[in-house]
Amino acid sequence: MKAVIFDEVGLPTEVLKLAEVEIREMGDDDVLVRMLASPINPGDFLFIQDLYPEPKKPRFPRQIGGNYGAGIVEKAGKNTTLDRGALVFVTYYDTWSEYAVAPARWLIPLASGYPIQKAAQFMNLITGWDLLEESGVQPGQWLLLTAGNSSIATIVSQFAARRGVKVISVVRTARGDMDMAAFGVTQLIDLSKSGTNLGELIADLTHGLGTNAVIDCVGGALFGDLVRLLAMGGQAIVYGGYREDRFELHNFDLLMKGAAIRSYIYRYFFSPPRREDLSLLQRIAESAQPEEFRMPIGGTHGLDDFKRAITESFKRPEQGKRLFEMSHGYRSIGQ
Ligand SMILES: NC(=O)c1ccc[n+]([C@@H]2O[C@H](COP(=O)([O-])OP(=O)(O)OC[C@H]3O[C@@H](n4cnc5c(N)ncnc54)[C@H](OP(=O)(O)O)[C@@H]3O)[C@@H](O)[C@H]2O)c1
Repeated sequence: MKAVIFDEVGLPTEVLKLAEVEIREMGDDDVLVRMLASPINPGDFLFIQDLYPEPKKPRFPRQIGGNYGAGIVEKAGKNTTLDRGALVFVTYYDTWSEYAVAPARWLIPLASGYPIQKAAQFMNLITGWDLLEESGVQPGQWLLLTAGNSSIATIVSQFAARRGVKVISVVRTARGDMDMAAFGVTQLIDLSKSGTNLGELIADLTHGLGTNAVIDCVGGALFGDLVRLLAMGGQAIVYGGYREDRFELHNFDLLMKGAAIRSYIYRYFFSPPRREDLSLLQRIAESAQPEEFRMPIGGTHGLDDFKRAITESFKRPEQGKRLFEMSHGYRSIGQ
């Protein structure tokens, strides 16, 4: 089969290559998935650069890229209960390929007919849902999101708006093609506009009370400012770190308003989905299924077009999430 692989740790734009590889041998607890679509996520780049702790480490030679995606069960090991033909989300390894073999416990079954591009991005849906829950923000309160144009932020803002939470979205530059109100955003703050004073804007919006929660993947001095702008009892959740600079806080910035900073990492990163999570996962999938729930993408690419897909995703993420789509031209092994 075709796969996008790497043989050494490095920048995704430098070490990835397209190769013909053998489909990995299956055990009795494994499932062979015919991949339909796999997103290119910032986290996939961290994996290629070997920045994650164990067990998320590349194994050489011929490590296949991609950690998430959606596909169809082609063959199920005898200890598994998944049916051939079932649609599944894979939250494992080796997803930038025509076929992936994964232990059944790392797969999440989805309803047949679930939109494939949303299925492929199910990790982001789970993350967005969890971030909102963990922030503790309540209906009528203010939530601030950084990297407001990102896939995760636009998922959180839509879930938040549906719960009656008011959303401030902070972006480096507003995108002309994105109607932020349609993504549930109450107030957009564009940092590129001269004269933007974050403190004054937030004080105006919240009548001097501050935001009740911040969900941040940018970091740096901006994050310090946002923590200082939290309301009494406010919470800041860190889930990424785009900026290289550090934030600085005084203990009293937290203590005097009982504020807290926590981190969030995707729940199926170190351990597989638990059986008892399945009904919540189904709820998350159903909440995002309607067409009005938007998960725009920047483009789809065949595996052959990996260079463009990777370069655009790595260098210009602001153009939107890109997916590998493997559905065209590939036949099921059984055919
Ligand atoms: N902790 C977890 O479990 C978890 C799970 C999933 C994702 N993440 C993290 O979540 C973040 C977003 O992921 P995604 O897939 O939603 O991203 P995405 O759709 O690819 O969007 C990336 C966004 O990041 C913004 N950005 C990039 N560099 C920036 C910088 N230096 N300062 C400010 N903004 C910057 C861009 O903003 P502009 O529009 O302004 O250019 C762009 O909108 C990433 O950091 C990713 O690693 C964490």
